Amino acid sequence: MDTILKEIVKQVTPLIGSGEVASYIPALKKVDPNQFGIAIYSKSGELYEIGDSRVDFSIQSISKVFSLTLAMKHYGESMWERVGREPSGQPFNSLVQLEYEYGIPRNPFINAGALVVSDMNQSRFASPQHAMREFVRRLSGNKQIQYDRQVADSEFEFRARNASMAYLMQSFNNFDNDVEKVLRNYFNNCAIKMNCVDLAKAFSFLSNKGACPHSGERVLTGQETKQVNALMATSGLYDEAGNFAYRVGLPGKSGVGGGIVAIVPDQFSVCVWSPELNKAGNSLAGMAALEALSESIGWSVF
Ligand code: DON
Repeated sequence: MDTILKEIVKQVTPLIGSGEVASYIPALKKVDPNQFGIAIYSKSGELYEIGDSRVDFSIQSISKVFSLTLAMKHYGESMWERVGREPSGQPFNSLVQLEYEYGIPRNPFINAGALVVSDMNQSRFASPQHAMREFVRRLSGNKQIQYDRQVADSEFEFRARNASMAYLMQSFNNFDNDVEKVLRNYFNNCAIKMNCVDLAKAFSFLSNKGACPHSGERVLTGQETKQVNALMATSGLYDEAGNFAYRVGLPGKSGVGGGIVAIVPDQFSVCVWSPELNKAGNSLAGMAALEALSESIGWSVF
């Protein structure tokens, strides 16, 4: 594995410089683009890592998988009355489908869908952001995980687009709580800082039929695990989900902080990170690294 990882670093390092760090969240612009890391965690607890795998970054939309998991545990099937399970074929922050589909977002990973899920968690927890942080600390086994206040404040300041979606959904009676409060919690969750090792470990329940391999905690049932992996495979990379399935062939979830998590069911959870993004808002070097990894190791669900 170490030889494969070294080879991948050699292969993808030249790509750094050809993407762009997310700039629509001003506080994210400050990240040094010249970074790249990988962590792979097996369901039997072996960890492989290389490069900047211990450097914290903003998890952004990767947090949507944790929010979805919390909501699924509480609401079960009833949550699907408020959010769909279909790929949107649109960018993550698109509003176009929301009006003609009566305020029901296509899936829980586009921003509109994640906001509805955050609204559900707002109804369920006294402090959804504390519940979330406690959850990711437990899943990763790292008690030090925090969020970046500056990033969260920056997102809140430039919230117009996300706020528009939430108010539109409110007009269709698909939003129960105070919009500004839910937006705050959603941004705080997106601004959680983790590194590749934390994320590979935190996602390991999805590669182990719903049980966390290092703590033994049952997070989801086997059936629910399959469902989350299916949603990641169809919608985890937004309008690039098809390309990701074609190139990598695994369930995945990206974030504009440059992280991408991928799941090899019943085997491994992987996190790659490099801050520069492609046009769809997914890590450019990260995509290439996952493609090379799945090819050299023969990983694919297809
Ligand atoms: O709401 C937003 O736009 C960001 N907090 C998250 C977007 C994101 O990470 C999209 N992923 N590639």
